[in-house]
Amino acid sequence: MTNPVARAALALLDRKRAPDTMQILSALPVPVVLLDPDNRFRYVNHAAEQFLGISAAGLAPLRLRDLVPEDNPLFLLVQQVRLSDATVSDHDLSVDSPRLTKHGITVQGSALPEEPGAVLLVLQDASAARALDRQLAFRGAARSVTGMAAILAHEVKNPLSGIRGAAQLLEASVEPQDRELTVLIRDEADRIRALVDRMEVFGEKPIARTAVNIHRVLEHVRMLAQSGFAPHVRFHEIYDPSLPPVWGNRDQLVQVVLNLVKNAAEAVTQNAQPSPEITLSTGFQHGMRLAVPGTTARLDLPLLVTVRDNGPGIPDDIRPHLFEPFVTSKATGSGLGLALVAKIIGDHGGLIEVDSRPGRTEFRLHLPVLADEEADPGS
Ligand SMILES: Nc1ncnc2c1ncn2[C@@H]1O[C@H](COP(=O)(O)OP(=O)(O)OP(=O)(O)O)[C@@H](O)[C@H]1O
Ligand SMILES: [Mg+2]
Repeated sequence: MTNPVARAALALLDRKRAPDTMQILSALPVPVVLLDPDNRFRYVNHAAEQFLGISAAGLAPLRLRDLVPEDNPLFLLVQQVRLSDATVSDHDLSVDSPRLTKHGITVQGSALPEEPGAVLLVLQDASAARALDRQLAFRGAARSVTGMAAILAHEVKNPLSGIRGAAQLLEASVEPQDRELTVLIRDEADRIRALVDRMEVFGEKPIARTAVNIHRVLEHVRMLAQSGFAPHVRFHEIYDPSLPPVWGNRDQLVQVVLNLVKNAAEAVTQNAQPSPEITLSTGFQHGMRLAVPGTTARLDLPLLVTVRDNGPGIPDDIRPHLFEPFVTSKATGSGLGLALVAKIIGDHGGLIEVDSRPGRTEFRLHLPVLADEEADPGS
């Protein structure tokens, strides 16, 4: 038996008082799927339900081909397992169907000698692991701006207000034909000031946290968008009203969602997309944990907020540097929006992931919820 999951389960079973195999399987943080000879879903564990985004009950009447197109290499793998009775693996598989979209999946399939024709699949989402790596790197990117932000604020803002004041004084005394120039100085000084103001947020300051209702934050941003920069975009809201509050800073979270929704709105209105749409959704996700750097502690990030759009997708050349400051594909963009998002989410101890292809770009925020001891005013 070469399958590590099956081996681990067997090792446990060998002990005297073996726990129930089903319990072990369902607690396993790795998606495990058992297909019957007709490729129906005989068994899925919790991790697989999450991975596929469908409950076990929902999967019971389905066959593999209902989720995965039949020309997908996954079918070949399943067939090879049945023919050879051996473990077969495949890396970097993609599934793209109306019910399931996954990229960079690693699949291990093995046969069950006791159940002829059945195939056990162990799935792994490599892109999730890669996204984690990237996020940690993004934190570094945001940090490198921190020092620069402080210098800019100090060394640029003060002289700038002098320049602006002088231009304003001149405005009153110069000839009318020259007034245009003083106005230009004033406007440009304002523009630089606004830029520096945005940079200043990168400064290292501890954040003031309270219990934040994330739905109010999303609702607020949707209203801002519809009455301001995205009047023609159709918004869908899919919220889980039972979610606990986020432990965070309301204004900063508004800024995060606003930056993501602004980008989404700019993406869907570009190329004259005939039906521009943005979907905001929330959900509870078990088992999303992040190691706290430098400690053995792990932080639970069960709250999931996603901002999805049907725009053209993130340009390939931008992707590797997406969250770094000054990276932009827009003529008038400053490239600070996502750097700020990464910085704020990092300060909250959260995580951000991205999935993007033409027609579907999704930013996922994983956030901590209010823990019991934080809710206790006595502590
Ligand atoms: N939803 C999206 N769809 C497609 N591309 C995106 C999306 N979000 C971000 N991008 C790409 O990432 C780049 C960086 O985004 P970011 O928000 O950091 O800066 P910006 O939007 O260009 O400028 P700013 O936000 O400072 O006005 C964008 O220029 C765009 O190319
Ligand atoms: Mg932006």
